[in-house]
Amino acid sequence: MNQPVIAASILAADFGQLAHETKAVLDAGADYIHFDVMDFHFVPNLSFGPFICKTLRKHNIKAPIDVHLMVDNPQVYVEPFAQAGADLFTFHAEIVKNPSALVKKIKQSGMEAGLAFNPETSIDILNDTRLLKQLKMILIMSVHPGFSGQVFMPEALDKIKKVRKLIDNSQSNAYVAVDGGIKISNVKKVIQAGANFIVLGSGIFGTKDYTKTIDDLRKKLKKL
Ligand code: DX5
Ligand code: ZN
Repeated sequence: MNQPVIAASILAADFGQLAHETKAVLDAGADYIHFDVMDFHFVPNLSFGPFICKTLRKHNIKAPIDVHLMVDNPQVYVEPFAQAGADLFTFHAEIVKNPSALVKKIKQSGMEAGLAFNPETSIDILNDTRLLKQLKMILIMSVHPGFSGQVFMPEALDKIKKVRKLIDNSQSNAYVAVDGGIKISNVKKVIQAGANFIVLGSGIFGTKDYTKTIDDLRKKLKKL
């Protein structure tokens, strides 16, 4: 199996030096920048938007950026994020009535599309193989979205296994991504359940030496 993608969630970075922190985590070996967008409606927190994404691009951040939209009206953010240089646009299943239409809009804008599921949300919608094949990422939340630094919910493991099965049984090449509470101590379980894309916020930014943390993660995953 290919090595899992490691995405660093900059929600846990020091915002006072965001471009610097983003560069540091990429130099340390992160593959993706995970960009959490919150509007204080869908989740009880407010973060950043397209302007900050564009700013990172201006500061020469070249790595792929996956934006995770924890907002009420994800459709209105598609064009602004495409213009700001985002690569992958993930919206929540709970908030969108017609996911296929939004996926189409995202792809037309030049980005890839992802679909995210809160801990209590059913993944039945993924039985729609046509929809599944259009997606680049299925994002399984292993915490209630809103904040970095929460504890991983083990119930997510079952969901990861189910999504992995669905993907393997269809001809989808979507990532099985997991977001929330991932640390060196539990990453093995997440990967063994079938994830191939992991998002870490405090698991990287909460440590002193980002390079050592990412090296340790990779070493641990190599043994699987
Ligand atoms: C939570 C966000 C996550 C979060 C991850 O709402 O979607 O991306 O920043 O942070 P940790 O890894 O600290 O749980
Ligand atoms: Zn996220």
